[in-house]
Amino acid sequence: MRIKRNWVVPAGQVPTEMDKKILHYQNSGCLVPKRRLVLNEEQIEGIRRSSVINTGVLDEVAKNIRVGMSTEEIDQIVYKYTTEHGAIPADLNYEGYPKSVCTSVNEVVCHGIPSPHEILQEGDIVNVDVSTILDGYYSDASRMFIIGKTTPEKERLVKVAKECLEIGAAAAKPYGFVGDIGNAIANHAHKNGYSVVEEFCGHGVGLKFHDEPEVMHYGRKNTGMLLVPGMVFTIEPMINMGGKGIFIDEEDGWTVVTDDELPSAQWEHTFLMTENGLEILSK
Ligand code: MF3
Ligand code: CO
Repeated sequence: MRIKRNWVVPAGQVPTEMDKKILHYQNSGCLVPKRRLVLNEEQIEGIRRSSVINTGVLDEVAKNIRVGMSTEEIDQIVYKYTTEHGAIPADLNYEGYPKSVCTSVNEVVCHGIPSPHEILQEGDIVNVDVSTILDGYYSDASRMFIIGKTTPEKERLVKVAKECLEIGAAAAKPYGFVGDIGNAIANHAHKNGYSVVEEFCGHGVGLKFHDEPEVMHYGRKNTGMLLVPGMVFTIEPMINMGGKGIFIDEEDGWTVVTDDELPSAQWEHTFLMTENGLEILSK
């Protein structure tokens, strides 16, 4: 068996209890994180501070979002709040992305680009996905907003998508595996008659916008990377009312839409793995 030796104890250093535990998993053939993915207190503190602003942005959006507003106005709120708090919207210019936030309405799964021509209507369900850089530290979270009153079907989708995030987070245990998260999420989605988008996943976050591990929202228990206290990552399931298929808008190269044009919902948090399970940093 070929073992990927991600975990290396620096020469001359005595292995700690944690080192021994991780090496044991590694020697049994499990995928373990690279050392740099287990963050120190200073790094975690930096991500906490970034997350406070990220949450502040989402709260500011929550206060202002309403019928008749354009998604461009949401972008302006995000840019203003973030920069006034000494931070940078991580989305802006990321791989050429033109705005400070993603606003994904109804059948848009993710990466919807804010536009002055897109006006929020009564009954729309909107994902607002905010990512912040503060002093070099990244945070990432998204929420669904229901505009006015929507249909019971869309309301249930939004609720179940949130439960998927919560159930996925609860399934993540220290020295468990990334696959435990996706397994729990997909089970809950399927039980409710929904499907899970497979093309996008949660991700390590903090020192970079998108880092290892890949946090799939489906999969098998006890597969994927070992979860070690000190790791920081997102969980961000995209749950479709209809089929799991998606396509990317050819005109803008970003907007992800469901194949059947039925609605999709997503919630996201940045989490810290602790000795006792996940802590939400983006609360
Ligand atoms: N915020 C998204 C995530 O959850 C990434 C958006 S990248 C962008 O990972 F370029 F579309 F903004
Ligand atoms: Co993310």
